[in-house]
Amino acid sequence: MRVTTLLSLLSAATAVCGQEYTAHKLYQLDNGTWLENMAQRTGQSYYLRFTRLDSPEVMEVDPTHQHGDPRTVHTFDGATNATGITELSRDNYAVLTLNQAVDATTVSLWTLQMNASSPIATKVADKVAGSALLNGLAVVSPNIVLATDTLVGGIVRIDLKTGEADKVLEGDAFTKGVNGLKYSEPYLYYTNSLEGVFGRVSVDPSTGEPTGEAEVIASGDVLVGADDFALAYWTEAAFVANFENNNIVRVNFDNGTAEVVVKDIPAPTSATFGSSGGLYAVTSGTGSDGGASFWSIYVPDETYG
Ligand SMILES: *[C@@H]1O[C@H](CO)[C@@H](O)[C@H](O)[C@H]1NC(C)=O
Ligand SMILES: *[C@@H]1O[C@H](CO)[C@@H](O)[C@H](O)[C@H]1NC(C)=O
Ligand SMILES: *[C@@H]1O[C@H](CO)[C@@H](O)[C@H](O)[C@H]1NC(C)=O
Ligand SMILES: *[C@@H]1O[C@H](CO)[C@@H](O)[C@H](O)[C@H]1NC(C)=O
Repeated sequence: MRVTTLLSLLSAATAVCGQEYTAHKLYQLDNGTWLENMAQRTGQSYYLRFTRLDSPEVMEVDPTHQHGDPRTVHTFDGATNATGITELSRDNYAVLTLNQAVDATTVSLWTLQMNASSPIATKVADKVAGSALLNGLAVVSPNIVLATDTLVGGIVRIDLKTGEADKVLEGDAFTKGVNGLKYSEPYLYYTNSLEGVFGRVSVDPSTGEPTGEAEVIASGDVLVGADDFALAYWTEAAFVANFENNNIVRVNFDNGTAEVVVKDIPAPTSATFGSSGGLYAVTSGTGSDGGASFWSIYVPDETYG
């Protein structure tokens, strides 16, 4: 009930602000921190959960501020960094970690159950095939997640039951720099930071195998530096964090336009909609701004329901 009251107050307040995008920094962590990836809105958990790249941690925050500041909920053993995170079912996640050693970096995939009294982390796959940096992560079916292989290109499929990994997408559309990844049946949406591309490809909803050709929805300088993104749930659009240009870019799928809608967010890495609506973004921190930060963004045409 408190949530509902708070939300109606919030929407009353934002309505007065008019039809402009606005952004507010809600929290900033210590200098040297880097927030990397946020799980996509599922409409269920109150918490937003996100990974740290400077440390093998998952953090959470309740964006309605009822439960305090962002806090670490799990630190993975035998890992140095966390990258992609995706919600498999209510309060259950898959998370990618890196283990950077002197001789080689290896990638692991875990499930993290947050529906227990304390989180339960289970390693699903160790030394996952692919490059030393699997990055964006998206769940396709209860057993299948897909990950971007940023350093060499391609999309790696990992079976959550067996831990087996193989490359299901590669070639010209998935070159080095492929980064953000989200699935909304029937499409797998992706960005390529180096090419400046936002694209999609249809994949089979049980196997994750491609069922069509990759299609570029928007491209150009405005998308060079594109990282992860939030898919809008009320319209055909995505909100892309551009770490190189310090802004948020809206890509409209029907006409293929890509426009900067929010400026001056330092080095954002990921965005998501909250379970009660509202767009949120995290950043990687910069020397001049200090540590990683967590932002709330007002999207004028968002229609919550
Ligand atoms: C992983 O974490 C270590 C320790 O904080 C850091 O030195 C390294 O740069 C991180 N790796 C990446 C890819 O950011
Ligand atoms: C937590 O989620 C897992 C995976 O979906 C499920 O097997 C388990 O029963 C759930 N536990 C509780 C307490 O809901
Ligand atoms: C593209 O579509 C969006 C959303 O429907 C609209 O706001 C925008 O004006 C359109 N731009 C062009 C150039 O058609
Ligand atoms: C953050 O730390 C770096 C490296 O120590 C330093 O150069 C920078 O000035 C610090 N930034 C802030 C805002 O304190």
